[in-house]
Amino acid sequence: MTILVPPGTPTDTAQETKLRQQLAEARAHQAATSEILRIITRLPTTDLQAVLDAIAAQAARLCHARLAAVSRVEKGGLRLAAHHGALPVSRAGEAGAMARTPVDRTSVNGRAVVDRRTLHIHDLAAESEDEFPTAKALQKRDGTRTILVVPLLHDDSALGTISVRRQRVRPFTTPEIALLETFADQAVVAIEHTRLFQELEDRTAALERSNAELEQFAYVASHDLQEPLRTVSSYVQLLAERYASRIDARADRYIGHSVSAVERMYTLINDLLAYSRVGTRGRDLVPTKTANVLDHVLEGLATTIRETAAEITWDPLPTVRADATQLGQLLQNLLGNALKYRGERPPRIHIGVQRQGGHWQFAVRDNGIGIDPAYAERIFLVFQRLHTQDEYSGTGIGLAICEKIVERHGGQLWVESQVGQGATFFFTLPTLGDDDG
Ligand SMILES: Nc1ncnc2c1ncn2[C@@H]1O[C@H](COP(=O)(O)OP(=O)(O)OP(=O)(O)O)[C@@H](O)[C@H]1O
Ligand SMILES: [Mg+2]
Repeated sequence: MTILVPPGTPTDTAQETKLRQQLAEARAHQAATSEILRIITRLPTTDLQAVLDAIAAQAARLCHARLAAVSRVEKGGLRLAAHHGALPVSRAGEAGAMARTPVDRTSVNGRAVVDRRTLHIHDLAAESEDEFPTAKALQKRDGTRTILVVPLLHDDSALGTISVRRQRVRPFTTPEIALLETFADQAVVAIEHTRLFQELEDRTAALERSNAELEQFAYVASHDLQEPLRTVSSYVQLLAERYASRIDARADRYIGHSVSAVERMYTLINDLLAYSRVGTRGRDLVPTKTANVLDHVLEGLATTIRETAAEITWDPLPTVRADATQLGQLLQNLLGNALKYRGERPPRIHIGVQRQGGHWQFAVRDNGIGIDPAYAERIFLVFQRLHTQDEYSGTGIGLAICEKIVERHGGQLWVESQVGQGATFFFTLPTLGDDDG
């Protein structure tokens, strides 16, 4: 007889001993499920196999079964993933007759997957050959009589099965069936958790690979371009020195254009090289006093500050976890921009700092020409500028380098601005821990 198990209620009995037994059994079931949950919470440090092994062992023990098995649906069919107890010997003689079962209704495991329902066969001997050809063969070989199969349900599909079998005709009780269904749920959680974790790992690895490749490409391209460029540059210089005002005015113009194009190419290549080096040449992140870094940066900008009558102020600056050279590059680029993209009035620049949980949020605010919010993202891309060389000089690498530096420090960089209203560049950097200031 084949019975599809309805959701049941525990068997009712008046006898106290029986109640006590039931209580002990419930406790044992609870202990087993929480033990498996404990193993699941150790994923992914512990592997999926450990979880499935534990489930098979507990299922065999608590369902008083000779064999408990967990199978998973794979390309070739249902494959045994974990078991506890002796496996039946297949016709071919090797252990594991269930090693690959087709996912169709001819086997008990296959049927549980196809129907996505629990299958309880009280006595296999009473079943017909037509109904379960594989299970019948099994019964003849190893004497299996009672089988309980629960599908591992996830969304609209079954990922596999968990089954227990006995050699005596003794149907499984309602609490045993409920327990096996709980184990099935736990196996699904473990399988899905592992799959998602693996997917995340794969994607991260792919992303890291493509980033490294890009960096390598930028480095090789810029590095190897320098050599031929140097040659071109030398000859153009020679031309300029030897033949200036000797041919005609047009030749002078051509030579002049060549010289400035070569210079510009130098700048572009060096900028690209600097960009590719943020990731490859970075130093360790160590406690760094922002105030000291800023001092150096201001020294470098002293002439511009004087010439533009700029006033730069700042909040008390914290010690952060950073690569000092890169933090300097970051401040230098942001302050350099704030000075460069000034309006009619002398620049007024303020560096604000706020602690927000595990990071410091810096805000470099200026009173310059501002940026149309439509370009708030584009300006961070390599060689993207909003102005011509004649209006403002530059190659458009500054903010791309800034973004890469901040990302390398585990932070974020963004801008808030309106045209004519000045701009505020925000970036975050990690704090040292709880005790820093
Ligand atoms: N503080 C600012 N105020 C207004 N516009 C800005 C500001 N900072 C950046 N921008 C705009 O963003 C663009 C990109 O800036 P970025 O620093 O990347 O390049 P750049 O200054 O043009 O050249 P580089 O920094 O490579 O010399 C600039 O061309 C400018 O249009
Ligand atoms: Mg710049």
